[in-house]
Amino acid sequence: MSVIAIVSQKGGSGKTTLALHLAASATQARRPACIVDTDPQATAAAWGDWRGDFLPIVVTSPPARLAKTIERARKQDDIEVVVIDTPPHAEAAMREAIKAADLVLIPSRPRAFDLHALEGVAEMLGFANTPAYVVLNAVPGGATRQVEEATKAAKALGLEVCPVTFGERADFHKSSAKGEVASEIDAEGKAAKEAKKLWKWVAKQLG
Ligand SMILES: Nc1ncnc2c1ncn2[C@@H]1O[C@H](COP(=O)(O)OP(=O)(O)O)[C@@H](O)[C@H]1O
Ligand SMILES: [Mg+2]
Repeated sequence: MSVIAIVSQKGGSGKTTLALHLAASATQARRPACIVDTDPQATAAAWGDWRGDFLPIVVTSPPARLAKTIERARKQDDIEVVVIDTPPHAEAAMREAIKAADLVLIPSRPRAFDLHALEGVAEMLGFANTPAYVVLNAVPGGATRQVEEATKAAKALGLEVCPVTFGERADFHKSSAKGEVASEIDAEGKAAKEAKKLWKWVAKQLG
């Protein structure tokens, strides 16, 4: 079983969007996934409620119980991937998620303020040995230069950048608000393709 933590100190960076789409893409690729929502706001859990019985399932866990929750998931043969969604501005939750993870993804919008918020995460990751990548999210169409500059800024903090990015796309926004994922709105759409590509890349990192 592989564990992926989605962390960032900034609210609205796309943690929950990334967590839901990654878990759904893994499940669609026959690697059944479970989302562990450690955010007291429970946005991912609400998505799971709207979704009903369709996979992936979402469970909630306070950060202090995360290790136990993952231990329980490990005992279940039908869960191959765990994606941890985390709250913003919560160092303890972020630390627990990083500790539990095989791979850390840090969504960030490619804007100066958002990139600035990577500093705290970079510092915390400096104490861990876990591979970690910034995933540029909600990239406006044609923003090649913005992506280049964001990549440079992340690298200056010692962070790697994932080669797959998520564009600013209505399908990401609309689907999440309905308990769906982008591929369930438009399977051939750009958002669906990006989500699938991200899982493929993540699967490769996990080996
Ligand atoms: N790539 C994207 N394209 C369009 N809207 C997005 C994208 N990523 C996130 N959003 C929207 O931005 C808001 C914040 O995203 P969310 O995933 O909830 O962030 P976080 O969990 O980090 O607070 C949500 O309304 C979400 O639908
Ligand atoms: Mg969230």
